[in-house]
Amino acid sequence: MDKILVRGGRKLAGEVQVGGAKNAALPILVASLLCDGPNTFTNVPNLRDIRSTIDLLRHLGANCTIEGNTTCVDASGLNTHEAPYDLVRKMRASILVLGPLVARLKKARVSLPGGCAIGARPINLHLKGLECLGARIELAHGYVEASCDRLKGADIYFDVVTVTGTENIMMAAALAEGVTILRNAAREPEITALADVLNRMGAKIEGAGTSEVTIDGVEQLSPVNAAIIPDRIETGTFMAAAALTGSDVTISGAQPEHVKAVIDQLRRTGALIDVAEDRIRVRGGDRIESVDVKTLPYPGFPTDMQAQFMVLMTVAQGASLISETIFENRFIHVSELERMGADITISGNTALVKGVKTLSGAPVMATDLRASACLILAGLVADNTTEVNRVYHLDRGYEALEKKFEALGAAIWRENS
Ligand code: EPU
Repeated sequence: MDKILVRGGRKLAGEVQVGGAKNAALPILVASLLCDGPNTFTNVPNLRDIRSTIDLLRHLGANCTIEGNTTCVDASGLNTHEAPYDLVRKMRASILVLGPLVARLKKARVSLPGGCAIGARPINLHLKGLECLGARIELAHGYVEASCDRLKGADIYFDVVTVTGTENIMMAAALAEGVTILRNAAREPEITALADVLNRMGAKIEGAGTSEVTIDGVEQLSPVNAAIIPDRIETGTFMAAAALTGSDVTISGAQPEHVKAVIDQLRRTGALIDVAEDRIRVRGGDRIESVDVKTLPYPGFPTDMQAQFMVLMTVAQGASLISETIFENRFIHVSELERMGADITISGNTALVKGVKTLSGAPVMATDLRASACLILAGLVADNTTEVNRVYHLDRGYEALEKKFEALGAAIWRENS
């Protein structure tokens, strides 16, 4: 099992190129199931979650090839409607195959993904959406079993804003008969990116990126070539690192529009941020001001940046309140940060973070993807050496993060333990 070691105290400098967005690539790769023929996607990040998705698509009968950051998926050979437990348990987002399988094959049997470290993460809204489209749903032996004749457009209201739920139903509705309206839909850039790809396949989707999405179902879709949008969370992670270490870092290949909430909050901490079309320059100062943060669905501050922002607050002047409103258990990094000397008190869904002078390098354990990134950031400013164990979580969602930090001047390396 790999671990990452970071010797803290160095300033970062230079430019870093951000990769394709994991959470945009996953549904877009899965959308290939909706048509016959070769789809080609560029700027696909080389990540464990992407490989898990490809394994699942191959299991379903799709022909997939990967060359560098280009992935081709041809689902002409789609030959099973079953996504087994062994493939789904590796990655919760596998539930995204449910909608496309039902739409294409009129039936699907997909393992229930179960909870994970950050919360229970139910899929009731995915199921409710499909039921509204006319699918019959049963839960048996740990699997969702769905069947239908042809799906029929419907008016669907999501009680809670759900990103993959919106994506799943949007994909299913693209091939349904008639018009579907999704109300209280997620507005994340990944939704807009998926809708763009589906529209280029021949779907008729309007309003993606707003809370009301209208999908006029079509008979069939055709394959496309498309590029994956830049990863806004990787972008935010480098921005936070620059602010944290008082460094001057330019993030290139980014989409500044997608990280507005993060830019706003980092500016309030005192960082100087210059934004160009696809570049963001962050200059951190010697002093970090405390700022309160509340995670919200997009365009609010992303839950996927909460842990990284918290590290910044652990060494800020004064105290800040960080409220997590998306997931019920997304403070698992707190106890590891405390082992590094952070002063954090949790009460319900809020963490009171009192800034300390320095963090102290320690062996720590990553428990989920963004928590891993947060511990690496903490290591960049801690004294001595921080050893981040279980970095397979990190490899699910960041491509060569330690190499990118090393190129910016950090003393960071990977070891096999
Ligand atoms: N929810 C329900 N019922 C549902 C679906 C969701 O109650 O049927 C609740 C969840 O329990 C949660 C809230 O709704 O409290 C929001 O969850 P959402 O469904 O939006 O999360 P997700 O689609 O499972 C995606 C990202 C996550 C990101 C969240 C929130 C992908 C593949 N994953 O998850 O990314 O944190 O949206 O923005 O897009 C990550 O990349 O580290 C990551 C966890």
